[in-house]
Amino acid sequence: MIQITVPLGDRSYPVVVGDGVMSSLASLIPAGSRRVALITQHGIPLAQSAVATLVDAGFTVEVCHIGDGEQHKTLATIESLCRRFAAAGITRRDVVVGVGGGMVTDIAGFAASCWHRGIPVVHVATTLLGMVDAAIGGKTGVNLPEGKNLVGAFWQPSGVLCDLAALSTLSERDLRCGRGEMAKYHFLTGDDLLAMPLVQRVARCVEIKAEVVAADEREGGRRALLNYGHTLAHGLETVTDHRLAHGEAVAIGLVFAAHLARHLNRIDDERVELHRRVVAHEYGLSAQPPEGVDAEALLAVMARDKKALDGLTFILDGDAGLEVVEGVPEIAVREALERFVSGSVS
Ligand SMILES: NC(=O)c1ccc[n+]([C@@H]2O[C@H](COP(=O)([O-])OP(=O)(O)OC[C@H]3O[C@@H](n4cnc5c(N)ncnc54)[C@H](O)[C@@H]3O)[C@@H](O)[C@H]2O)c1
Ligand SMILES: [Zn+2]
Repeated sequence: MIQITVPLGDRSYPVVVGDGVMSSLASLIPAGSRRVALITQHGIPLAQSAVATLVDAGFTVEVCHIGDGEQHKTLATIESLCRRFAAAGITRRDVVVGVGGGMVTDIAGFAASCWHRGIPVVHVATTLLGMVDAAIGGKTGVNLPEGKNLVGAFWQPSGVLCDLAALSTLSERDLRCGRGEMAKYHFLTGDDLLAMPLVQRVARCVEIKAEVVAADEREGGRRALLNYGHTLAHGLETVTDHRLAHGEAVAIGLVFAAHLARHLNRIDDERVELHRRVVAHEYGLSAQPPEGVDAEALLAVMARDKKALDGLTFILDGDAGLEVVEGVPEIAVREALERFVSGSVS
């Protein structure tokens, strides 16, 4: 078992990583809480042991299931949860526990942030992506028809559990998505994560995210580096109508970001090849966009990405490591993209 602290002054909190750490869930519940609103989905086996652990520790547990899939990540779900909280008599002294992947923890966090103007939340991350990314750092929210994660709040949890036992029931595709975000951490730090045993690998990703979040909680600067690979990834998710899952798109986005950096003479061929090799061979992900993806359509979608302030914004590698580069000339992106999409890049 490894414990990492997300250092945020008096809002600092522990993240506990290990096989079977569910047994310490009750210890993460803030003192004085009696009732737990436990938010989860059907099909998450670990939720049952979360409930059992809390009941054994003397808590009254109200289990709230939410729908599976992004179409349920809505304000309507938040409203129905809040009505469940009202019926169950959840007060300011009580606590929300989210048991699930990023979808559940984003919703549980947002519901906690606005119920009675904010009550504590504890996350139990049950997907690899949730453990290394979504459950850490306090970004919560829901989607609108106009776009993903447009309504939300920064609401740090009181604690996070990453019980590696959850991964045994996760689909190969969801594991792959988690690996896409892990590959991102590889390039952020240069750490050879795959050389580490699983518990250390997950803990190291948590630590990297914790460091970045602590330095820039509300994404004024450094936290944006966590979006490495994401400009193209968001575009790919949209133009493929989500046939590509987020982590799969991030993997491709990382390799494209390297090609774009090469095109702008920021890095050399060797560094581009390293991106491709790490993504494709070490992390076992596709490093190329799927057949039939159109460069112009991608460009149009990326130009309206909510993170684009003035022209196109990318996180790009260079002599000084990764940095946010605003106003990347559209022509450069188009050229790099056309070659990338047609597969004519080496
Ligand atoms: N807040 C953040 O900083 C942040 C960061 C990255 C992603 N996100 C959000 O996270 C979401 C994606 O998260 P995700 O990839 O974890 O997907 P997800 O939460 O949708 O989970 C994927 C699938 O796995 C199932 N599942 C979860 N745990 C399981 C287990 N242990 N065994 C079997 N099945 C299990 C879920 O029911 C679901 O069907 C997106 O909504 C994204 O916006 C948030
Ligand atoms: Zn991501």
